[in-house]
Amino acid sequence: MRIYKFDEIDSTNKFLREKEDVIEGDLAIAKVQTLGRGRRGNKWVSTEGAALFSFVLKHDIEIPEEEYMKLPLLIGYSLLYTLKKIENLDYKFKWTNDLYLDEKKISGILVEKIRDNYIIGIGLNINNLNLEEAKSIAISLREKTSKTYDLEKVIATVVEDFYNNFQEFKKGKWKEILEKINKVNYLYGKRINIVTFDKEESGIAGDILEDGMLEVFIGDEIKKYNIGSIHISKK
Ligand code: BTN
Repeated sequence: MRIYKFDEIDSTNKFLREKEDVIEGDLAIAKVQTLGRGRRGNKWVSTEGAALFSFVLKHDIEIPEEEYMKLPLLIGYSLLYTLKKIENLDYKFKWTNDLYLDEKKISGILVEKIRDNYIIGIGLNINNLNLEEAKSIAISLREKTSKTYDLEKVIATVVEDFYNNFQEFKKGKWKEILEKINKVNYLYGKRINIVTFDKEESGIAGDILEDGMLEVFIGDEIKKYNIGSIHISKK
C-alpha cells in the first residue's frame, strides 16, 4: 500500500484521479482540503480534525459491471461497521451512502470511476468541531463523545475493513450485508421527495432492494429508484 499524506491539498479524490500510475491500495490523506468535493458538485467542508481520504479499488473484470452499482452501499455499510467498533453508537445508513448520527450527517462518500479504477473518497467528521456552514446538518464524533481520536488509525481501520468487506461481497455475502443495511435504513418509513431528471414525486421510503435500488410507495404504486438518478430531500 502506498500512502500519500498532505497537510493541505485541493482534493484527495482529484489527486488520485489525476495520478497516472495509480494502483489498488493507493491511499491519499489530507489534514485540510481547499476544494473538498461532494456528490452532485457540492462542496465538502474539509477542516482540520476530519478524516479526509481517498483510496483506490481496481475494477475486477470477473465481477459483472452491474454488481458495482452496489459499491456505494457496500462502502457505506463498511464504514458504519468500522465506526461501530470505534464508538458503538446508533448510526443510521442513509441510502445511497451517507451515515447519520442524531439526525445529522457524520460522513459522506464520493465514488468516482477513472479508467479501470474506482476512487473512493471519504469525509468522516471525527475530531473536527468547526463544521462551519454545515453545522446545522453535520455532526462529528468528538462533538458527540467529547473524546479525540487517532485519525490515522481510524483511516487505516476504515480502509482495511473495506477491503475485507469487499472480499466478503465477492464471496457472495451480499444478502447478509443488505439485511444489516436495512436494519439501519435511515429513510425507511419517512416521507421523501424524489427529484428525477424529468419530474418530482413524493412518497414513503421502504427497503433497499437486492439490486441496490430503493423502493418508494407513491400513492398505491411501489416504485424503484436507482442510485445516481435521483435527488432526495426529506420533507
Ligand atoms: C458527499 O456526501 O457529498 C460526499 C463527500 C465526500 C468528501 C470526501 S473528503 C475526501 C475526498 N476528497 C474529496 O474532494 N471528496 C471526498
